[in-house]
Amino acid sequence: MKMLVVFVILLHVSQHASAVEVVEGDHFVLLPCEFPTFDVDEPTVEWSRSDLSPSTVHQRQLEGDELTEQNQRYSGRTSMKTDALDTGDLSLNLTNLQLSDSATYTCTVRSIRHGQERLADVHLQVKERFPSWAIVLLGLLVVALIVAVGLLVHFRHYFMSVYKVEVDSGVESVQLPCKTLVHLPKDLRLEWTDRDNRKVHVYQNGSEQPKEQNQVYEDRTEMKKDLLRPGDLSLTLKYPTDRDRGSYICTIYSREGNILMKKQVELQVKVQQVEVDSGVESVQLPFRTTGDLPEDVRVVWTDSSIFNRRVHVHQNGSNQPKEQNWFYRDRTEMKKELLRPGDLSLTLKYPTDKDTGSYTCTIYSREGNILMKKQVELQVKDCKVEVDSGVESVQLPFRTTGDLPQDVRVEWWERSSYRKLYLYKNGSEWPQELHRLYRDRTEVKKDLLRTGDLSLILRKPTGEDRGRYTCRVYDKEGKLMREKTVQLKVKERTQVKDETVDIRNRSSSTDPTPLMADQSV
Ligand SMILES: *[C@@H]1O[C@H](CO)[C@@H](O)[C@H](O)[C@H]1NC(C)=O
Ligand SMILES: *[C@@H]1O[C@H](CO)[C@@H](O)[C@H](O)[C@H]1NC(C)=O
Ligand SMILES: *[C@@H]1O[C@H](CO)[C@@H](O)[C@H](O)[C@H]1NC(C)=O
Ligand SMILES: *[C@@H]1O[C@H](CO)[C@@H](O)[C@H](O)[C@H]1NC(C)=O
Ligand SMILES: *[C@@H]1O[C@H](CO)[C@@H](O)[C@H](O)[C@H]1NC(C)=O
Repeated sequence: MKMLVVFVILLHVSQHASAVEVVEGDHFVLLPCEFPTFDVDEPTVEWSRSDLSPSTVHQRQLEGDELTEQNQRYSGRTSMKTDALDTGDLSLNLTNLQLSDSATYTCTVRSIRHGQERLADVHLQVKERFPSWAIVLLGLLVVALIVAVGLLVHFRHYFMSVYKVEVDSGVESVQLPCKTLVHLPKDLRLEWTDRDNRKVHVYQNGSEQPKEQNQVYEDRTEMKKDLLRPGDLSLTLKYPTDRDRGSYICTIYSREGNILMKKQVELQVKVQQVEVDSGVESVQLPFRTTGDLPEDVRVVWTDSSIFNRRVHVHQNGSNQPKEQNWFYRDRTEMKKELLRPGDLSLTLKYPTDKDTGSYTCTIYSREGNILMKKQVELQVKDCKVEVDSGVESVQLPFRTTGDLPQDVRVEWWERSSYRKLYLYKNGSEWPQELHRLYRDRTEVKKDLLRTGDLSLILRKPTGEDRGRYTCRVYDKEGKLMREKTVQLKVKERTQVKDETVDIRNRSSSTDPTPLMADQSV
C-alpha cells in the first residue's frame, strides 16, 4: 500500500515543472521541490544542472549536506532546510543571484531501494536589473534630449513668442533678435515698434525708411544689409539705457498689408547701483570703457531731473565748469587723465538725499555723434541710531570735513514735523529759534566749523523722539554744502524692567524681601 502511494506521488511529481523569475542581485530565491522523503529509506536529494560539469548544485543526505561534488560556482550560495528530509520540503535556497544562474534545475531523489527519481525541473530566469536594451534606449533618449535642447537653444528666436534680452547699461549696442524660417517676399514691409507703439525702425521696398522712424531712435538703429536672404530681421539698438526698457515688436506685412509674422522681444537694461551712507565725503559713479578714447571727445554727465541738469562736462581735454549746473558747482571731479584708458568715473562730493537718482554719462564724438552712454543709479542711505528710552543722552553723529567758512548756516531739524533742534548762523547759536520741545535738550560741540564735528547730542530721549533728523550746512548764498540724515529709534523699556526699578527703589528702604525678589528676576 505504502509503495503504491509512493509510486502515485512519484508519477505525479515527476511531471512537475515550474518556472521562477528573479532579478540579478536579488538576495535569494527558493526553487520548489516536494517529496515525502520520510517514507524513503536512506534518501539522497540532489539539485543539479545538466548543462554544467560537475552538475551538482546541492546534495543532501540523512547525515546532512554532502557538497564534495558541488560545482564551484555554487559554493557557499546554496542551502536546504535542516529538516528537509523529515518534512519533505526539498526546496533549494539559492542566494546572491547572478545572470549565469539562469538554467533548468533538476531536483532528484535517490535511494538504494527505489533507485533514482527525477522530482522537479525548475526553470530559473535571472533577469538584468536594467536590461541592456533599456540602457541603450535610455542612452538614446538622453542623446535625443540633448540634441533637442541644443536645437531649441540654437533656433530659439524662431520658436519663442517672447524673447528676453538683458544687457548692462554702458554697452555699445544690444541686438533684439527676430528670425524667421518663413520664405519672405521681396515686397514686404517690416516694422519694429516699441511699447508705446512708436516706430523704432521701418523697412520697405527693399530699403530703410528713416522718415517714418521716431526721433528717439534716430541714428540708433541698424539692421543686416541683406536681411531677406537669411531671414534675419534682428535689430541692433545702440547705447541702450533704462529708458529703452520694455517690449519691442517685430512685424512683417505682406504688400497687401496682411501680417505675416509678429515677434516680441523684452529688453531689460541693467543699471549699476551705487549705495552710499548719508554724510560721507564723496561717492564715485563708476564708468570705465574698455579701450582708449580719442582726445577730442565731449563727456557729459547728466542727472535724471526733468531738466536733465549737467552734472559735469569735460571737453577739449579739460573740465568746463561754465556748462555745469549751479547745483553741482564745486562738487564734482573726474580723473586728470580720463581718456586713456577711458575712466570716466565721476566723483560727487558730499552726496545728499537730493542726489538720490540716476545719472547718465554720454560720450560724444567731435561731430556730436553719441559714442557711448552709461547709467548709474545712486542711493544715499540714512544713518541709523537705536537707543533705549531712559538713557541720559543720544548722539546723532555727523563728522564732516572741517574748516567750514565762518558765514555758514548749520541746521538740525526733524523731517516730518519741521521742528528745529539746532541752529547756527551769523557766527553763533540761536536757541530762541528752536522748537520748545528741544530747548535745553540739544547741544553741538563748540568749535564745530573748525573741527567739522556737527554731531548733535539729544538729552533724555523718549519714544516721542523717534524720527528722521537731518543736518544741513548752507553757504552764505544758501547753497547746500553738506547734509546728513539720521534715523533715530528709541526703544521703550519693557514692563518687567520698570518693575525691577520699582523693587530696587523699595529695597533701598531697609526691607530685605524685595531684594531677594530682585535677585531672582
Ligand atoms: C535563504 O538563505 C538566505 C541566506 O542564508 C536567508 O537570508 C533566507 O532567509 C533564506 N530563505 C528562506 C526562505 O529560508
Ligand atoms: C513702395 O513701392 C510702391 C510701388 O513700387 C509704392 O507705391 C509705395 O509708395 C512705396 N512705398 C514706400 C514706403 O516707399
Ligand atoms: C574746443 O576746441 C575747439 C577747437 O580746438 C573749439 O572750436 C571749441 O570751441 C572748443 N570747445 C570748448 C567747449 O572749449
Ligand atoms: C550778524 O552779526 C553781526 C555782528 O556779529 C551783526 O552786526 C549782524 O546784525 C548780524 N546779522 C544778523 C542777521 O543777525
Ligand atoms: C523711589 O525713591 C525715591 C527717592 O529715593 C522716592 O522719591 C520715590 O517716591 C520712590 N518711588 C517708589 C515707587 O517707591
